[in-house]
Amino acid sequence: MKFQIITSLTALYLTVLTVAQFTSPQYLKSPIGGRLTTDDKWSKAYDRARSVVSQMTIPEKVNLTTGSGWEADLCVGNTGSVPRFNIPSLCMQDGPLGVRFTDFISAFPAGITAGASFNKELIAFRGKALALEHKAKGVHVVLGPAVGPLGRNALGGRTWEGFGADPYLQGVAARATTREIQKAGLVATIKHFIGNEQEHFRQVGEYYGSGPISQSLSSNIDDRTMHEIYMWPFADVVNEGVGSVMCSYNTINNTYACENSYLINKLLKEELGFQGFVMSDWWAMKTGIFSAQAGLDMAMPGDSGYFTSPDTFWGNRLTRAVLDGSLGDWRLDDMAVRILAAYYYVGLDSINTTQSGPNFSSWTKDTWGFEHPLGNVGWREVNKHVVASNNDLSKSAALQVATEGIVLLKNSGNVLPLVGGSLNPRKINIFGKAAGPDPRGANCKPDFACSDGALGQGWGSGAVDFQHFVTPFEAVNDAARKIGMTVDYDFTAFNLDGFLSKVSIADANIIFALTNAGEGFASFDSNYGDRRNASLWHNADEVILRAAEKNKNNIVVISSVGPTNLERWIDHPNIKAVLFALPGGQDAGIAVANVLFGLSNPSGKLPFTIARDDKDYIPIVTSPGNGKPQADFTEGIYVDYRLFDKNGLTPRYEFGYGLSYSSFGLSDFKIESGTAPSEQLPQPPSLKPVSALACNKPTNADAYTFPPGFAAVPRYIYPWLSNSGDVGNVKGSCINVTDAISSAPLAGGGLGGNPALFETAYTLSVTAVNNGPFPGSQAFQLYVEYPQGGKYDVPPRQLRGFEKPYLNVGQSAKLTFKVQRRDLSVWDVESQSWVVPRGKYRFLVGNSSRDLPLSAEITI
Ligand SMILES: *[C@@H]1O[C@H](CO)[C@@H](O)[C@H](O)[C@H]1NC(C)=O
Ligand SMILES: *[C@@H]1O[C@H](CO)[C@@H](O)[C@H](O)[C@H]1NC(C)=O
Ligand SMILES: *[C@@H]1O[C@H](CO)[C@@H](O)[C@H](O)[C@H]1NC(C)=O
Ligand SMILES: *[C@@H]1O[C@H](CO)[C@@H](O)[C@H](O)[C@H]1NC(C)=O
Ligand SMILES: *[C@@H]1O[C@H](CO)[C@@H](O)[C@H](O)[C@H]1NC(C)=O
Ligand SMILES: *[C@@H]1O[C@H](CO)[C@@H](O)[C@H](O)[C@H]1NC(C)=O
Ligand SMILES: *[C@@H]1O[C@H](CO)[C@@H](O)[C@H](O)[C@H]1NC(C)=O
Repeated sequence: MKFQIITSLTALYLTVLTVAQFTSPQYLKSPIGGRLTTDDKWSKAYDRARSVVSQMTIPEKVNLTTGSGWEADLCVGNTGSVPRFNIPSLCMQDGPLGVRFTDFISAFPAGITAGASFNKELIAFRGKALALEHKAKGVHVVLGPAVGPLGRNALGGRTWEGFGADPYLQGVAARATTREIQKAGLVATIKHFIGNEQEHFRQVGEYYGSGPISQSLSSNIDDRTMHEIYMWPFADVVNEGVGSVMCSYNTINNTYACENSYLINKLLKEELGFQGFVMSDWWAMKTGIFSAQAGLDMAMPGDSGYFTSPDTFWGNRLTRAVLDGSLGDWRLDDMAVRILAAYYYVGLDSINTTQSGPNFSSWTKDTWGFEHPLGNVGWREVNKHVVASNNDLSKSAALQVATEGIVLLKNSGNVLPLVGGSLNPRKINIFGKAAGPDPRGANCKPDFACSDGALGQGWGSGAVDFQHFVTPFEAVNDAARKIGMTVDYDFTAFNLDGFLSKVSIADANIIFALTNAGEGFASFDSNYGDRRNASLWHNADEVILRAAEKNKNNIVVISSVGPTNLERWIDHPNIKAVLFALPGGQDAGIAVANVLFGLSNPSGKLPFTIARDDKDYIPIVTSPGNGKPQADFTEGIYVDYRLFDKNGLTPRYEFGYGLSYSSFGLSDFKIESGTAPSEQLPQPPSLKPVSALACNKPTNADAYTFPPGFAAVPRYIYPWLSNSGDVGNVKGSCINVTDAISSAPLAGGGLGGNPALFETAYTLSVTAVNNGPFPGSQAFQLYVEYPQGGKYDVPPRQLRGFEKPYLNVGQSAKLTFKVQRRDLSVWDVESQSWVVPRGKYRFLVGNSSRDLPLSAEITI
C-alpha cells in the first residue's frame, strides 16, 4: 500500500486512510559489527572484543546479552558477568537528567531545558556533570540522552526528556551529551528508537483512560520522514560513536521496535553503521529468537514481559536456541562482540572490578539491603551514600542550564528586570500554586507524578530524587528581602478573599503557572503521561485574568514541559511580561529569580512552537480503535515549525523565539568558502570482510548446565539450562553467517552513514553585536531554504546551525556556521540515498525561525 503524505490540514486529521495496515518488511541479514574501515578507535575495540569473545563459552556470551531481571541486582538493569575474563555485571541506570533512585545527586534541568539554551558548550557541560555523577555512583551504562520522542506531539508525555522539536537541535545536543558521557568512560544510550512520540498505548497492560489494547501503538512512518526527521539525531549520535541504542515500546508499521528487523538491521546497523549494541526498553521485547534475528543485542531488564510472566525470552532459552541451531552462532557472537566492543571503546575495562559496580541500591534508601532484592539474597551495606553532587561542576551546570532555559516571551515597556527595568516595583505579590512547595514534599510518589507545587521536572523514569528543590517563591522572596522589596503571597485558589484583596495593592503581581507530564506508567489528574490539554493547570488562566482586571502590572511565569495555550490573556495590556521556564531541575526557582531581578539576562529560545489554536498541534491518539491503535504520521516531514510554515499557520510564538533585556544586531552575513556538493553521494568506503569467530561448542551437556554446587540466587536469570535433558543433542559445528552484505549501501559505509554526509560543504559567517543596555547572550540561528518547486516537496526552512555568543554592551563577535552536505540533502526514497537537489539554496540567519533578517544564496 502506498503511503501518501496528505498536506492539507483538514484532510490530515479527517481522512480515514484507506491503508489497511502498515507493515514492515523483514530484513534478517543482521550486520556484523566491526566491518567499518573508517574508525580506528572502534576497530581497536573490536579487535579486543573479538579476541576475548572467541575464548568465551556460549553461556558466557549469553550472560553479556541478558539482564538478571527486574530488582534482581542493584541497578535498574544489570547484565550477567563473565568472571573468567574479569568482566563485571554492567550497571544500567536512568537517566537523562540525573542518577535515578539514589541520594546525593543533582536533579539537573531536563533535556528540553538544555535544548532551550541553544548553547552547545553549556549542553556539553551539563552532559559532563551528569556523566561524572553516574560514574561516582558506579553506573556503567547511562540510559540517556533521549532524542525520541522528538516532539511531534505538543502534548506528548516524555518530550521534555529530549532537547526540542527539531532533529538538528536534538542531534547537536545529544551528540554533545553523548561525547561527554563516553569521555567520562561510560557507555551512553541513545533512546528511544523510534517513533515513541506519545505515551498513550505504548504498552499492553498499562492503563491510559481507555482500552484495553492487544498491541502497542503503531507509529506509521514513511521512509523519507524516518530519515529526515526521526532518525536524523540518531545518525548524529552514531557518528559520535555512541555505544548503545535503546529500542522503544511502540511498534513501527505494526512490528515491535525491538524485533523490527528492517529498523534495526537495515536502517540502524547497515545504513547508519551503528557499531555498538541495541538494548530493549524495559519489557519492550516480545519474542526471543525473532528479536535476536532482528538485531536486538541485549535484553533488559531480563527481558521477561513484566505484565505477563516472570520468565525470560533469552538467558537459558538463548543458550538452547544456539545449541539446537534455531539461532546461528554468528548472531550470538555478534551480540557479545558488540557489547564488549562498546565496553572497550569507552574504556570500561579500566574500572577496578574489585571495587566496581554500583555503590547504591535502586530499591531501598536504607544503608543495608539485599544485593539481590528479588531473591532476598546477600544482605549487606548496599547504599554507601556517595556524594556525587557536591562539586562546582554539578552546581554550576544545574543553575546555568536552568537559567539559560528560561525564555522571555513578552516584556512590554521593559518592565523587566524588576531591578533596572522601567517598573522598579517596591512591593510585589506572588500568586499561583506553581510558585510554592508541593504540600506532599519535593519527592512525591509515584515517581513524581504530582503537581501541587512548583515544577522542577516531569514524572517517570526520566526523573530523579531531589536532594534539594528551590521553589520560585523561596528564591524570589529571598532576592526581594535582600533589596528591601516588600513581598506578599497566596498559593491557594483564585477566588479567595485573600487573593482578590491583595491583587491591587502591589506595584506588580508575579503569577506562577505550570503544566506537567511524564511517563505513561503514572498519571496525574487524568493526564496519562501525555497531557490531556495545552491549558495551564490549577485554574491559572482565571488567576491571571482576575489579577489583570485589578492591577495594571502583572508578570506571568510559566513552568511547563511543553507548549502551552496563552490565548486568554497574552494580549491583555495589563499582562506586561511573560517568562516561559522549561523544567529547571533542583534550582528552578533560583534561575527564575535571577532572571526576574536582572542578575541573569534571559537568553533561552523556544525549542518548539506555541500555537494560537490547540488544533494546530498534531493530536495524541487516544482511541484504542480495534485494540491495535494506529498513529499515522501523515504530516510526514512537517513537524512543529515545518508544519506551521508550510500551512501558513501563524503561531503565537514561533520555534526559536525568545527575547533579551538587551538588543542585538547582525550584519555582514556571507558565505566564506565552500564548494557545491555533487548531487549523488560518492561511493562509500568498502567494508572489512566477515570472519567467523572460532567455533567453541562442546557436545557434552554439562557445559551448558549449572556448574556443580553453584549457589543460584532464586528468580535470578542465568545463562544455564537446569538439567542435561534440556540441552538435547548439541551439534558440534557452528552456524556461520553466509548472507552478509558484501558492500555498504550508498548511504552507509561510515558511522552515522556515508562519511561524505558529515563533510563541511559551506562555511558561513556573520557579525553579531550587542547594542542594548545589558550584557548577555543571544542564540543566533541559521536556517536553510532548499530549492523550491523541484522534484522534492521541502519545508520553507529548516534549522541548520546555531551559535550563542556572550557579548558585553557594545561588543561584537564574528560567528561561524559550518554547513554539512547532509544539511543540504533530502532522502530520496527511490535511490535509497541522500541527494543534494540542484537549484537555489537560501541561507537565512537571525534570532528565531520567523525573524531572519539576513540571507545569502547559492545555486548548486
Ligand atoms: C513503514 O511503511 C512505510 C510505508 O510503506 C515505508 O515507507 C517505511 O519504509 C516503513 N518503515 C519501516 C521501518 O518498516
Ligand atoms: C553469569 O552472571 C552471573 C551473575 O553475575 C554469574 O553469577 C555467573 O557466574 C555468570 N555465568 C558465567 C557463565 O559466567
Ligand atoms: C563508588 O563507586 C565508584 C565507581 O565504581 C568507586 O570509584 C568508588 O570508590 C565507590 N565508593 C564507595 C564508597 O564505595
Ligand atoms: C582495586 O581495588 C581494590 C579494593 O579497593 C584494591 O585493593 C586494589 O589495589 C585495586 N586494584 C588496582 C589495580 O587499582
Ligand atoms: C486541562 O488539564 C488540566 C490538568 O489536568 C485540568 O486541570 C484542566 O481542567 C483541563 N482543562 C480543560 C479545558 O479541560
Ligand atoms: C533580531 O535580529 C535583528 C537583526 O539583528 C534585529 O534587528 C532584531 O531586533 C532582532 N529581534 C529581536 C526580537 O531581538
Ligand atoms: C565457521 O567458521 C569457523 C571459523 O572460521 C570455522 O572453524 C567453522 O568450521 C565454520 N563452520 C562451518 C559450519 O563452516
